[in-house]
Amino acid sequence: MSFKHRVEEASKAKKSSIVLALDFPYHKPEERETLRAKAQSMLDMVSPYVCAVKINHHLTLPLGTFDGVQALVKQAHEKGLLAIMDGKVNDIGATNTVIAEYYFQAGFDALIVNPFVGWEEGLKPIFDVAQRLRRGVILLAYMSHKGAEEGYGQTIYDVQTGEKIKQYVSFAKKALAWNADGVVVGATVPEKIREVNAVLGDIVPIYSPGVGAQGGAAQTALKAGARYLIVGREIVQAENPAEQAKKLSQEQ
Ligand code: XMP
Repeated sequence: MSFKHRVEEASKAKKSSIVLALDFPYHKPEERETLRAKAQSMLDMVSPYVCAVKINHHLTLPLGTFDGVQALVKQAHEKGLLAIMDGKVNDIGATNTVIAEYYFQAGFDALIVNPFVGWEEGLKPIFDVAQRLRRGVILLAYMSHKGAEEGYGQTIYDVQTGEKIKQYVSFAKKALAWNADGVVVGATVPEKIREVNAVLGDIVPIYSPGVGAQGGAAQTALKAGARYLIVGREIVQAENPAEQAKKLSQEQ
């Protein structure tokens, strides 16, 4: 089963469209055991109310991949969650291949990548690895922070078609052409979720970060067409993370 379908199944089973961003504030490298324990306990508490966990450099840098986050990925799987690596991978194909091999070897079910790097000698090698190992690839389309407009928000002349088009709409079209498992559009820009959704329909789901701490609203993002909400601080830093995740999942 493809990642797209597996996450759909997990979402139905958990009755939740929330992807937990397992992020914590900076801990000194010597405090890595404290950080590891916090991550394990957060995952335990919140797992009944989310369909997947998203891990990024917040944890891979201090904990390491095979010594650290691999155990969290295993823990997520045991709880019925999928694990997404938010690597925003953005290098030449030869390097991208090695990055993808390592993350998938560590057990991640999908990898977030940056389409600015292009297809030939860029992302194609990642899609090849993912296809061989039956994992997913999720493209950034429009990021949730203000500066996103300087890159993702530019109007461009598409190099293949010559048409004048918004960069993020072009990325949405590439997600269809490349058979991506998802795209990321910030909850902070619901009008852009709507535009991307108009291109993707039910074929490629939209993952939307930026709820709460960054100012985005869950309901607005979902109404605009987001299928999954990526939520970090709003849950992780809540007084009662499990209650907060439960509340968010019930608001959908
Ligand atoms: P918060 O605490 O703001 O965390 O809920 C959001 C998480 O998502 C990541 N993030 C993004 N990831 N595209 C992504 O792939 C984005 O546009 C984006 N915006 C935020 C962020 O690093 C954190 O883990």
